[in-house]
Amino acid sequence: MREILTAEQTKKIEDLLSQMTLEEKIGQMNQVSPSIVGGFTVPFEELIEMMTDGRISKEEFSKIMESAEQDYHEDEIRAGKVGSLMVQDPAAVNRLQHIAVEESRLGIPLIFGLDVIHGFRSVYPIAIAEAGSFDVDLFERTAAMAARESRASGVAWHFAPMLDVARDARWGRVSEGPGEDPYLGSVFARAKIRGLQGDRSSPDNYVAACLKHYICYGAVEAGRDYNTVSMAMHLFYNCYLKPFAAAVDEGAVTVMAAFNDLNGVPCTVNKFLLRNILKESLGFPGFVVSDANAIRECVVHGIAEDQADAGIKAAFAGMDMDMGTEIYAKHLKDAVESGKLPLEVVDEAARRILSVKMWLGLFDHPYVSEDLMKKYEVLPQEHIDLAREAAEKSIVVLKNEKNLLPLRKDAKISLVGTLADIPEEVVGAWSISWRKEDCVSIRQGMEAEFENVRYFPCGGPEGDVSYNEAVEAGEYGDVIVAVLGETIAMSGEASSKAEIALPGRQRELLECLLDTGKPVVLVLMNGRPVAIRWENEFMNAIVEAWHLGIRMGDAVAAVLSGKVNPEGKLSSSFPAASGQCPVYYNHMNTGRPGSKSKFTSRYLDCPPESLYPFGYGLSYTTYEYKDLMVAEASPEELEISVTVSNTGQRDGRETVQFYTQDVCASLVRPVKELKRFEKVPLKAGETKKVQVTLPKKELGFYDNDGVYRLEDGLFRFYAGGSSADCLQEELRLSFS
Ligand code: BGC
Repeated sequence: MREILTAEQTKKIEDLLSQMTLEEKIGQMNQVSPSIVGGFTVPFEELIEMMTDGRISKEEFSKIMESAEQDYHEDEIRAGKVGSLMVQDPAAVNRLQHIAVEESRLGIPLIFGLDVIHGFRSVYPIAIAEAGSFDVDLFERTAAMAARESRASGVAWHFAPMLDVARDARWGRVSEGPGEDPYLGSVFARAKIRGLQGDRSSPDNYVAACLKHYICYGAVEAGRDYNTVSMAMHLFYNCYLKPFAAAVDEGAVTVMAAFNDLNGVPCTVNKFLLRNILKESLGFPGFVVSDANAIRECVVHGIAEDQADAGIKAAFAGMDMDMGTEIYAKHLKDAVESGKLPLEVVDEAARRILSVKMWLGLFDHPYVSEDLMKKYEVLPQEHIDLAREAAEKSIVVLKNEKNLLPLRKDAKISLVGTLADIPEEVVGAWSISWRKEDCVSIRQGMEAEFENVRYFPCGGPEGDVSYNEAVEAGEYGDVIVAVLGETIAMSGEASSKAEIALPGRQRELLECLLDTGKPVVLVLMNGRPVAIRWENEFMNAIVEAWHLGIRMGDAVAAVLSGKVNPEGKLSSSFPAASGQCPVYYNHMNTGRPGSKSKFTSRYLDCPPESLYPFGYGLSYTTYEYKDLMVAEASPEELEISVTVSNTGQRDGRETVQFYTQDVCASLVRPVKELKRFEKVPLKAGETKKVQVTLPKKELGFYDNDGVYRLEDGLFRFYAGGSSADCLQEELRLSFS
């Protein structure tokens, strides 16, 4: 196991442990959120359900809520029965920390955690978008900035990065992670860990990362959230585990288990996953937290008789901290005293949690200083600039017929779509600490960038469309920019969809806009790949703008005007139809790959391929690839090179992608696998040779027993600007 503490710090933790009662150790394993209490007899969650299912009206609910207050569990903190809280207000953090440090018997500080998924005060693009920038340095810088901002609020623990490989766009949580590819996911994971945890020069500069959701949550059956997962083990090792293994190797200090079961055992109580793979094989030194209420849900899963049983099973499996149920707090003491749970299990969990607190500097710096609290009162320019840079780099141009884009600054533009005019819609799922005054809507961005913009709401993902306004938009503009897609609430947790075409009446609105005869640029705001086969056929240009964070409006306007040459590529394939899901570029081969012939792996009503593949994205310039070469540079390494030219009129940055295929092996292998990428700046007319080194051992794979195999034989090598558009070479390799 990797050490995260010095010998002296380890000794301090052991001294502390030797003074702790069983209850105090279990207290460290207990994470709570402020509970809402008041003049009502049922739990707050139940009250919300009562309003949702109509047992009480909204008015009754509001009336009851007038008496509501937050209970911060102060007495339990004082008694040493709480190890962690989810709070983000620095005043509350200091107040509660004061109770823990000054008023509890041993003065152990609390660790405050929060879902800081893509920025804190400065919100950056959702992860599926940011991953498409293929900009490793950017991944790291946005994480580092989020760490500093949140630490100034006392939040020292981010429930991020979310590293679930996600290939099914019906699953709402595709928005939260870096997409469908395990290699891009691993690079993203490492960069995020460096950004969040890397600068330990001061406790104000870093936080503990939390890898989630361990594991295979992205593979929930039918894309339905929280659903079951059955998976062959070779896929588990070669794909889903990879980003987690990379992040552990980079030094991540906490992990959150996923809600789902894997092959029949919920991750929450899965000893094989938590102990054997994570803590033993990967040598993970930190602690594991459950997902919210997940220990209690093991009873519903049907894997535990009751809450006490669920708590014992989770603790046995290696679950160190209970998020939200207080089952550990209520039941583990009895379990240990009655001999059902060995004391060592509790000792180990408490040791891991205390070690992370020590690693974070919480014992010496438990509070947020007044100065630090004020530091980001007004968002510094540097933060705004980074949010804008990230947003610009994450935009993907999907179609640009007859070079309709970029638009002239003096073009008459009819801006359409309710989403364009709602600043709050730019931030995307899981944005918690942003302020409206920092957000720039697309309308604001466009009006600042272009001379003649007129806005026609017309309609959006919800509600009616106004045909009159659409006609007026056609009358005014030389070009129509239609901002359509999904509201924030349509992606993220508990937001799976069976149909992922543009929701509501947006298609009708587009038909109406086309009828005006004016060219239409479709700008998409959404949290998942959407099925837009019809739009691809009829729109003149399509720009995928995701939910890009606080500077979304500036970034979209800069790409539409050409001030910025777009460089984003897709981190996830876009299906041609919802029924294709899951669809991804690195699928296994079949014996009958889809073709025009009847008895092949295809659909009667839709091509088998995605509409836009992984790695795809247009620029305002063009690139040409030549001379792919693969050579054995040494017994251990291959050198792969390709020549890339910017053949257009504008400077740009191209993401050069290198893929491989193991043509024949003892297990069926993916048709292509990303192995490296390079982001290459190229001036108009410039040519560069791009070369990467690939250790030969990276051409191996895990079998179903978790054994890594490197098998001699024929390999294909690919290089290109998209997974579907590559040059190809072959080489026979022998590894012995
Ligand atoms: C989500 C996690 C999140 C946790 C705490 C859960 O519902 O699945 O991703 O970190 O809540 O907010």
